[in-house]
Amino acid sequence: MTATCLASTGNSVIGVDIDAQKVRALAAGKCPIFEPGLEELMQAQLAAGRLSFTTDVGQAVRQSAVIFIAVGTPPRNDGSADLSNVEAIISGIAPYMDSSRVIVIKSTVPVGTGQRMSDLLMDLTAHPFSLVSNPEFLKEGAALEDFLRPDRVVIGSDDPDAIQMLTELYAPFVRTPQTILVMSREAAEMVKYTSNAYLATRISFINEIADICAATGVDIAEVCNGIGADRRIGRDFLNPGVGYGGSCFPKDVQALIQVASHAGCQANILRSVHERNEHQKLALAEMVLRRFGNDLTGLTFALWGLAFKPNTDDVREAPAIRVIQRLAAAGAQLRCYDPRACRNAAAMFPENAAIAFVDDPYDAVQGADGLLILTEWSEFRTPSFDRMRSQLRQRVIFDGRNLYQLATMQRQRMEYYSIGRPGILPPTKPNNSHAKGLGSSSAAGVMET
Ligand SMILES: NC(=O)c1ccc[n+]([C@@H]2O[C@H](COP(=O)([O-])OP(=O)(O)OC[C@H]3O[C@@H](n4cnc5c(N)ncnc54)[C@H](O)[C@@H]3O)[C@@H](O)[C@H]2O)c1
Repeated sequence: MTATCLASTGNSVIGVDIDAQKVRALAAGKCPIFEPGLEELMQAQLAAGRLSFTTDVGQAVRQSAVIFIAVGTPPRNDGSADLSNVEAIISGIAPYMDSSRVIVIKSTVPVGTGQRMSDLLMDLTAHPFSLVSNPEFLKEGAALEDFLRPDRVVIGSDDPDAIQMLTELYAPFVRTPQTILVMSREAAEMVKYTSNAYLATRISFINEIADICAATGVDIAEVCNGIGADRRIGRDFLNPGVGYGGSCFPKDVQALIQVASHAGCQANILRSVHERNEHQKLALAEMVLRRFGNDLTGLTFALWGLAFKPNTDDVREAPAIRVIQRLAAAGAQLRCYDPRACRNAAAMFPENAAIAFVDDPYDAVQGADGLLILTEWSEFRTPSFDRMRSQLRQRVIFDGRNLYQLATMQRQRMEYYSIGRPGILPPTKPNNSHAKGLGSSSAAGVMET
């Protein structure tokens, strides 16, 4: 995204990766991830000759004034950020530096990393450099829009020349000069983790409130609207669901807990946010087990949505993956559909005969004993309930994203369970021996996760 967008404003950009296959695909105009609009913009930059891809670090370093580091910083076993990729880049670029460079860390890294990398590079090169923290805030699924029209660009540096250079690079994307926030390198590093930790906290918070609403017979949607109207609170990131996933929130919350712990701080809120989310990811699977019993042998479930959010094919830490594992372990057969993420999800379940991935949402539903919805893709919002009714063996929907109105589900004669709202019970008593219902006083039955 960074390479493509910087090229789109006229810069010459060389993208480097150690993954030769990825580089070949990129050079041929094939984007290895699905992100709306990215592939087309990337192809245009390749065609214009402003963007190229290589595995040759030396060539890229010699030709570049600014070097962006955007490698992965995955979690170690204890949750702390693994910085070995960033260190590898610093060591890898040093031999090719033949004059001064601005080095920009875009990867999400714990506070103090910029200083450590600066010290490391200082030992490896005699040439002057400036090491800047410039964290990335884009949202997967809307990354292009976020890069082209950012809420803010954070530049962590005290070097006026480096700050000027980055300000000029970002100038075409920012609406007002106030969008660029210059601060210390350490503050910039903390801003990134704090932003993600705060957003994750809102999600875990509203999921907890959803439990209380369900247990007390209140509709969480009304509560969200009520509190969201307060400008101090706002309505964004207040949707109850199956928990946050993806490559950022889970790892960044855990990494911040480790940063806190090394600094001698407690981070009790962050620990609770993480624990709550781990539990929430299985909320839908638990509902299924309560409804059908612990042994799901002989039952088939359709799953709609595998990506951790809509408009991406990313299944890293996706709640759907946990739900599939849990239900398959209980003996269920699963038929899964996602508009974009089937290939990535299938790669996580090689040769598992109980789990099928299909190309059509209604193929997934055919003959199933229930439908689970894990991702709020637009195409799931207005399905054909007539078709669903005729294809489902048992007309039960477990909606992890609260896509449908309760009144609609009642009218459509569906048995319906969602997050933080009363369940809609079957219009007639199910004749299946597995059917247990979630209790006649629906709310408590549905939502104890
Ligand atoms: N994905 C997001 O939405 C997002 C948003 C904001 C910030 N970030 C941060 O950006 C960073 C990258 O995230 P990602 O999701 O793109 O990761 P990713 O794992 O999808 O991609 C990282 C790439 O770096 C390459 N790489 C690893 N070591 C290398 C080396 N020594 N030299 C060259 N290339 C190397 C890998 O081959 C891979 O292609 C992380 O720190 C992440 O926290 C990601």
